[in-house]
Amino acid sequence: MSKTATLEIDGKKHEFPLITGTENEVAIDIKTLRAATGGVTTIDPGYKNTGSCESAITFLNGEEGILRYRGYAIEDLAEKADFLEVAYLLIFGDLPTTEQLEKFHNDIKEESHVDEDVKKIIEAFPKSAHPMGVLSSLTSALTAFNPSSVNVDSEEDMYKAIVKILGKFPVLVAWTMRKSQGQPLNYGSKNLGYVENILKMMFEKPNEDYKQNDILLNALDKLLILHADHEQNCSTSTVRMVGSSHASLFASLSSGISALWGPLHGGANQAVLEMLEAIKEDGGDTKKFMAKAKDKEDPFRLMGFGHRVYKNFDPRAKIIKVAADEVLGDLGVEDPVLDIAKGLASEALSDEYFVKRKLYPNVDFYSGIIYRAMGIPVEMFTVMFALGRLPGWIAQWKEMRLRKEPIGRPRQVYIGETHREFTPLEKR
Ligand code: SDX
Repeated sequence: MSKTATLEIDGKKHEFPLITGTENEVAIDIKTLRAATGGVTTIDPGYKNTGSCESAITFLNGEEGILRYRGYAIEDLAEKADFLEVAYLLIFGDLPTTEQLEKFHNDIKEESHVDEDVKKIIEAFPKSAHPMGVLSSLTSALTAFNPSSVNVDSEEDMYKAIVKILGKFPVLVAWTMRKSQGQPLNYGSKNLGYVENILKMMFEKPNEDYKQNDILLNALDKLLILHADHEQNCSTSTVRMVGSSHASLFASLSSGISALWGPLHGGANQAVLEMLEAIKEDGGDTKKFMAKAKDKEDPFRLMGFGHRVYKNFDPRAKIIKVAADEVLGDLGVEDPVLDIAKGLASEALSDEYFVKRKLYPNVDFYSGIIYRAMGIPVEMFTVMFALGRLPGWIAQWKEMRLRKEPIGRPRQVYIGETHREFTPLEKR
C-alpha cells in the first residue's frame, strides 16, 4: 500500500498521507486539504465514507460481522464476562483484576444515590412521558446536583465523574420506569451486584420481598454487554461532538440519549416490537409487510433490519436470537411475535431486495422480545439500550478528551442565495 494519495484538481496534483490502523484500515489524512487546495473541502452526507477520529476502543468489520471491544471478541465477552467487567474494559482499556473490579464497584456504590430533589423533576413529568425524554432530561439535570463533575480535565476528576454517572444512571433508569408505572421510587442494595441491583430497583414490589431471578439476571447482563459500545455510531458521535466543546460528561451523555432515541437508531428496538405486534394484529401476513418494506412509495421499513456498517449478520443479533429462545424457554413464555420475527427474518434473508442490499437482522431485531419476556414495558426498550451503551459513551468521551481532540466543526457547501441588496419593508 503506498504511503500517500494523490488528488488532481485543475491539473494540479496534491498528495495526502495515508494512515493505516492496527486492523489495516486505511484512511486519507485530509487535515491539510483546504489550505493546500485554496479552499476545496469534501462532502459526505451521513459520513458514510468519512472517519471522525482514530480510536482504540471498538473494532467492527462489517463485511465479516466482527465486533471486538479493546481486542476481545464480543462472543467471548458475552459468554465469559459480566457487564461491569466489560464497562471497566471499555473505559480503562484492559480487563480488570479482581481487586481492580472490586474497587471500581465499591467506588460506584458510593455514588449510587440521587439527590431527593431529582424526584421533584420526575414527579413533574406526566406518566405518559416517553422514558427516553425523561432520562435525557434527568441525566442533564445531574449536572446541577454534581457541579464538581462539570469542568473535568484531569483523569482523576474524570474518574470521579465516571463512577458518579455509573452509580446514578441505573437509579434514573429504574425511577423512570417506576414513575410510568406509578410505583414507588426506591433504591437497591449495596450487597447486590451491579446488574442485580438494577433489576431489584426496577422490579421490587413495595409489599413483598424481592427474589432475584437468575434467568433475568443473566439475560440482562448479556444484553447490556452486547449494547456496550459500537464505535462511531450516531449517538456515540453525538457524545464525542458535544464533548468536544468541553461540555460536561453528563451533558454529553444526555445528548447521546437523545440521538439514540430515534427509530433509525436505538429507538428501533421499540419500533421492531410495534411492527411485530402490528403484523400479528393484521393476521401475521409477513409477505404483506415485506412488500411494504420494498415499496419505494411506502415509508415503511423493516425495523431491526439493515445496518450502516454490517453487510453481514450483526454478530450481536446472532447471540440475542439464541438468547431469546433460551430465555423464553426458561421462563416458559410462549410469545407468538418471536415466531413472526423468525418468519420475517427467514423470508428477508432469501428475498432478492434484501439480499442485494445486504440487509440483515441487527441488534434491535430480537432484543425487544427478551425485554418483553422480562416484563419491561416497550417504551423502556431504548432506555435499556442506553443503559448498556453508557460505558461505551463514557469510554469514547474520555478518549476524545484525553487525546485533546479539537472542537467538532464540519464545513459545508453553501447552495443558497448569493449576495442581494436589502429591500425596505414598504417596498416589498
Ligand atoms: C442501530 O451505527 C450503529 O452502529 C448503530 C447500532 C449501534 O449499536 O449503535 O448498531 C444500533 O442503530 C442499529 C440500526 C437500527 N435501525 C433500524 O433497524 C431501522 C431500520 N434500518 C434502516 O433504517 C437502515 O438500515 C439503517 C438506518 C440502519 C442504515 O441506513 P443506511 O446505512 O443509511 O442505508 P440506506 O438507508 O441508504 O439504505 C440502503 C438501501 C436503501 O434502498 P435503495 O435506496 O438503495 O433502493 O437499503 C434500503 C434503503 O431503502 N433499506 C431498507 C432498510 N434498510 C435499508 N429497506 C427496507 N427496510 C430496511 N430496514
